[in-house]
Amino acid sequence: MRVGLACLSLLLVAGCGVASIPPAAAPSPAGTPGALVTASPPGGQAGKPTGEPPGTPRPMPRPRTTQPIPPETRPRDVDCAHVKCVALTFDDGPGNYTSTVLDTLARHHARATFFLVGEMIHEDDRPVLRRMVAEGHELGNHTWDHRDLTSLSDAGLRHEIIKTEKLVKEITGVRMHVMRPPYGATDRRVAQETKRLGLAQILWAIDTLDWRDRVPKLVVRRSTAAKPGEIVLMHDIHKTTVEALPRLLNVFDRKGFTYVTVSELFGDLKPGKRYSDR
Ligand code: NI
Repeated sequence: MRVGLACLSLLLVAGCGVASIPPAAAPSPAGTPGALVTASPPGGQAGKPTGEPPGTPRPMPRPRTTQPIPPETRPRDVDCAHVKCVALTFDDGPGNYTSTVLDTLARHHARATFFLVGEMIHEDDRPVLRRMVAEGHELGNHTWDHRDLTSLSDAGLRHEIIKTEKLVKEITGVRMHVMRPPYGATDRRVAQETKRLGLAQILWAIDTLDWRDRVPKLVVRRSTAAKPGEIVLMHDIHKTTVEALPRLLNVFDRKGFTYVTVSELFGDLKPGKRYSDR
């Protein structure tokens, strides 16, 4: 697949301690589907006298019309200098398996970052993008149709990024803060334009080469070689990667890793700057 052949890679980083944050502090975004906000009855717990006369009408729960979507993906305050962090990233989607990826990540309380290709976002994918946001994942810009940005004119380069930016904003309300240049191809001009557009450039430390070697075992082995603070590059458009995901998450779980978005990994990202490790 053209887009699938895109980027290969990951970043390594060093410098994280131990101790993962408790699951309770993990992905619990405001607006989690199904997390109905119920007002406590005035006066205390059910079954106890409330002081209200019998028959007092209870306030009706407000009907939920649309699922609330946070205006932005809100990074948690995770100190990756002291916690074993890994930033899993999925490129080139959304695709046919992206919902499965989200299901698997949810089972492991894992947040990740999805670098979206604009032309891959079809009508059916809109709920998937909203779900990413609602479940605390980060969205990143992977251009409109996966061009090598260094080969484009200034206007062409901006167009590649802005077109995807607008679509993702329209669907999710999210203004992205990170982008990944296709093929990892970047230069001073890409840096200047991404700075102007308010986007940090996110590369990687570990490339699973999952687009090339469609073997789940290899994806597991390569991804789990990540050291604390590293970014792992994968693609959610490949079935073999999706098959590898539960297994690699089990390995990271056993090692005590905390799954963070790239914004959580670095804390304070500067537009235009290139990041490959912390
Ligand atoms: Ni790519």
